[in-house]
Amino acid sequence: MKGVLLHGGFGTRLRPLTHTGPKQLIRIAGKPVSQWALEDLRDSGVRSVAIILGELAPERVVEYYGDGSRLGMRLTYIYQGYPYGLAHAVYITKDYVGDEPFVVYLGDNVLVEGISNYVKKFLEETDAAAMILLTRVPDPQRFGVAEFDGEGKLRRLVEKPKHPPSNYALVGIYFFRPPYIFKVIEELKPSWRGELEITDAIQKLLDRGLRVEYAIVRGWWKDTGTPEDILEANRLLLDYKYKEKTIKGEIDDKTRIEGRVYIGRNTKIIDSVIRGPAYIGENNVIGPGVYIGPYTSIGDNCRISNVELENSVLMDNVVLETLEQRIVDSLIGSNTVIQRKEKKPRGYRLIIGENAVVEI
Ligand code: DAU
Repeated sequence: MKGVLLHGGFGTRLRPLTHTGPKQLIRIAGKPVSQWALEDLRDSGVRSVAIILGELAPERVVEYYGDGSRLGMRLTYIYQGYPYGLAHAVYITKDYVGDEPFVVYLGDNVLVEGISNYVKKFLEETDAAAMILLTRVPDPQRFGVAEFDGEGKLRRLVEKPKHPPSNYALVGIYFFRPPYIFKVIEELKPSWRGELEITDAIQKLLDRGLRVEYAIVRGWWKDTGTPEDILEANRLLLDYKYKEKTIKGEIDDKTRIEGRVYIGRNTKIIDSVIRGPAYIGENNVIGPGVYIGPYTSIGDNCRISNVELENSVLMDNVVLETLEQRIVDSLIGSNTVIQRKEKKPRGYRLIIGENAVVEI
């Protein structure tokens, strides 16, 4: 089975974090969200994967993943450019997949239980043209939604309906057997949002009487489209993926580390308290006077002193100094500096990107 990982799109809802690169490279709990997806594919036995690239800094994706050997995978890159829709992204993999069954994984989706059971089910238990994953959500309007007949058979799929026919959303992981899916995409027309929708393509498979199976995902699933989603995915990944304390950096005698905490190489912690689950990357200097509370992830090369942090994600090269404040539920992008001036300022001085939220 081959894999296709979608790494294109605009990432509009995550600006300004996505001004400098694709949203799938945002690090959550220590790894880019697309790396969690790639590792899931690999651990399910899918080692050959095509990564679909968009217009937003595609070279950063190639630079980060290379040929995939670091992850024990064989990676190929296919340039999509403008995001014409998920079905378009799938269509351009036609030559790459050939006649093998394949799985499409949206690079911003996190499925904590992993896909290996579904890979097995698709390969061994069915010869359906497609298999989709569904999960119950409280806000189905945000997703593709399934409608069932009285016997629980799939009747219809609709993309982001105003009046959802059920609470079952399409998870961004799809299984296909060529050539059917490519044939129906050739007949697709752009949707109201101007995209070739994969949801409409699967609907066409149903219309033609082809078998489309579904499986219900009961574990945690998250589409990391918004800052709130990222904080939630961070909590989820810290809970499920870090089961023990791992300390590779240096901790001084005055520091207290409690619970499941990961501390990367060359990170120094001075006179501080860290309470897990928490992830702290490499080359950071943390302390003195820092409290890091549960569900916090910190990237690399950050300098943090005299501040309390909780349930937050900090990217790389962040400076947070002498704030004597508590920062909670926050997402702080790379190269951000937040410092307190020696003398009390007459006003705040802020240099902040688009769509930022600052609550002072
Ligand atoms: O996350 C699940 C949802 O994903 C499904 O429930 C929906 O049915 C499906 O349409 C999709 O909806 P979104 O509106 O969330 O998709 P989004 O535009 O965010 O794109 C999903 C991923 O695919 C994202 O990582 C960007 C990438 N992408 C997107 C488009 C439109 C591409 O690589 N190329 C594209 O052309």
